[in-house]
Amino acid sequence: MKEQKEVSIFNSISELADYIGRILIENLSTKGEGQYLSLALSGGSTPEQIFKYLSIHYKELVNWNKIKFFWVDERCVPPGDKESNYKMTCESLFENLNISKDNIYRIYGEADPKSESKRYSNILSKNVAPENNFPRFDVVLLGLGEDGHTASIFPDKLDLFETQEFCMVAVHPESGQKRITLTGKVINNAKNVLFIITGNNKAKIAAEVIEKKNKILPASFIHPVKGSLKWLLDSEAAKFLSE
Ligand code: 6PG
Repeated sequence: MKEQKEVSIFNSISELADYIGRILIENLSTKGEGQYLSLALSGGSTPEQIFKYLSIHYKELVNWNKIKFFWVDERCVPPGDKESNYKMTCESLFENLNISKDNIYRIYGEADPKSESKRYSNILSKNVAPENNFPRFDVVLLGLGEDGHTASIFPDKLDLFETQEFCMVAVHPESGQKRITLTGKVINNAKNVLFIITGNNKAKIAAEVIEKKNKILPASFIHPVKGSLKWLLDSEAAKFLSE
């Protein structure tokens, strides 16, 4: 199945979040008794408002206990650190929902990065159904950095789209901060990849990536092998799109 690319522009964060809520409901409806939806979350600031909205308005509409939560990437910091994607997710999404701890697969940011990338790869092997020898997530939420990175795959590390590893240690090119990240093949093996892009500061990079003006940015290498790729933007982030 060829990648189907779809760009949706929303007038507000809540409309964008509603769309994600509906995607979760739609995918959950395909899961039978004892089956779970595997969801990989990105961090950073973009998802925060969306998670807060979903935790309030979709508390009863989404069967949250049929979802297994994973992360696309994590900063190598303790879970209580303000930089932690896990902390942000707990405060904006989990706090308002009583999700079983058994369904939350945290990346141990406090652990030795190399050993954690291996541990988390094993977690994925055991808890995310594979296809073509790679974990196949039902839904992956991605953000877009102003430099065109996604997950923690930065412009100087495009080899993370070639590796056979499921997770690798990455280094933020400016801060030097270590990260654990899913690799390109895992992301591209997903059924549904959703890019969430909001704010004026993302308008330039969004147009460059979506309209393929710059083909060597990490986000330009996101092409689900057998899945859908949806670009979800608010009107500010979409302002330079030509179509
Ligand atoms: C992270 C993310 C990263 C993020 C982009 C956009 O850990 O930071 O996973 O890939 O999605 O950097 O970040 P903002 O949402 O903060 O702009």
